[in-house]
Amino acid sequence: MTMRTSPKKYVFPEGFLWGTATAAHQIEGNNTNSDWWEWERTKIPRSLMSSPGHEYPLEESSIACDSYNRYEEDFDLCTKMNNNAIRMSVEWSRIEPKDGTFDPDQIDHYKKVIKSAKDRGLKVFVTLHHFTNPKWFSNLGGWENSKSPYYFSRYAKKCADEFGQITEAFITINEPQVYALQGFLKGEWYPCKRSFLLSLKVQLNFMRANNMAYDVIKAAYKNYKVGLVKNIVWYKNVGGFTDMLWVKLLNFLNSDFFIWPIRKHLDFVGLNFYFTTYIKDWRTANPDDRNSDLYWWINPEGLEKVLFGLKKYNLPVYVTENGLADSKDRLRKDFIHDMIVACGKALEKGVDLKGYFHWSLIDNFEWAHGFWPRFGLVEVDRRHDLKRTPRPSMFYYGSICKDNYIEE
Ligand code: BGC
Repeated sequence: MTMRTSPKKYVFPEGFLWGTATAAHQIEGNNTNSDWWEWERTKIPRSLMSSPGHEYPLEESSIACDSYNRYEEDFDLCTKMNNNAIRMSVEWSRIEPKDGTFDPDQIDHYKKVIKSAKDRGLKVFVTLHHFTNPKWFSNLGGWENSKSPYYFSRYAKKCADEFGQITEAFITINEPQVYALQGFLKGEWYPCKRSFLLSLKVQLNFMRANNMAYDVIKAAYKNYKVGLVKNIVWYKNVGGFTDMLWVKLLNFLNSDFFIWPIRKHLDFVGLNFYFTTYIKDWRTANPDDRNSDLYWWINPEGLEKVLFGLKKYNLPVYVTENGLADSKDRLRKDFIHDMIVACGKALEKGVDLKGYFHWSLIDNFEWAHGFWPRFGLVEVDRRHDLKRTPRPSMFYYGSICKDNYIEE
């Protein structure tokens, strides 16, 4: 006789945060003072793009999802899926449109936005830098300028002064290494440079910027929580001895290399997890069994491993982004299930995981790819007044958020 065992249940700690993540430039629309806006109008040469068939001409972010005006409707969706948190970003180029000049109207706007999320029972994580810069800052050399940490921390302090009372936590910088590699090593994003040394310099400036912002905020407001969001890829050796050495180096470079030096200037670590890369003969050797629309391989084991790798920092950890491009919503439900089980496993192994934010709430502007990759739990119909329609996976995610547990 075969015994049926009941599925394993992972119960999340009380107060665990369940939410979604967004970024200003990707959803707000008309972000006209930013360098990315300007760059969208210059177009990227075809040869630099990596998604054949979708590369040229680049779409412009234009009205995006009009969330600058429709944020209440967006937050209602969060309530609909039983969320108790949201990660959003404020746009530096709106708040400080000129060097050293802050715009009180835009500050009021963001106060309204944050309050409206709070009124719906959402704890608000505010990202201060999510890939876009004010034009004036770029014109001064952007993140290559050794004064960039100073400019950034001045803006960060202003945000703390204005939004700190209504914000759960601040995230200084989103994915600094992705920005440095895309823009300064691979040349695929603004400012399209290809220099190892420059990309290193930009990373170092980001480290300094995080530390300076942390220090100025904490000096004024001891209790405010300040962290940084790091994208981490899990590399796994499926080859020989030299692959093993290469994998060790890659795992180091995309995690501890950046986090270790700034660890004393972090109250928590935010993890964006999207990829696992198997390495054999020094090359990517991923199975081809489950791929998103962007051909990103889905591998929940990677999330568990990366979370476990963060345990040594003895800091609270949040999964601040995790999601997939899946326009037909074919894979998203299983993806969510498997990734959240991976979170449960990491918790069991002692990782101080405090929350999970799915990327993304709504379909949005996916940077150099334009609008075609659909990351939203909610579909945005670009032909019909940006109408928001929940996908089935949104209700599934909502049920997990409500239960606060998941069965394997
Ligand atoms: C970024 C998001 C982006 C997502 C999917 C992350 O790298 O923070 O802005 O949309 O991944 O590519």
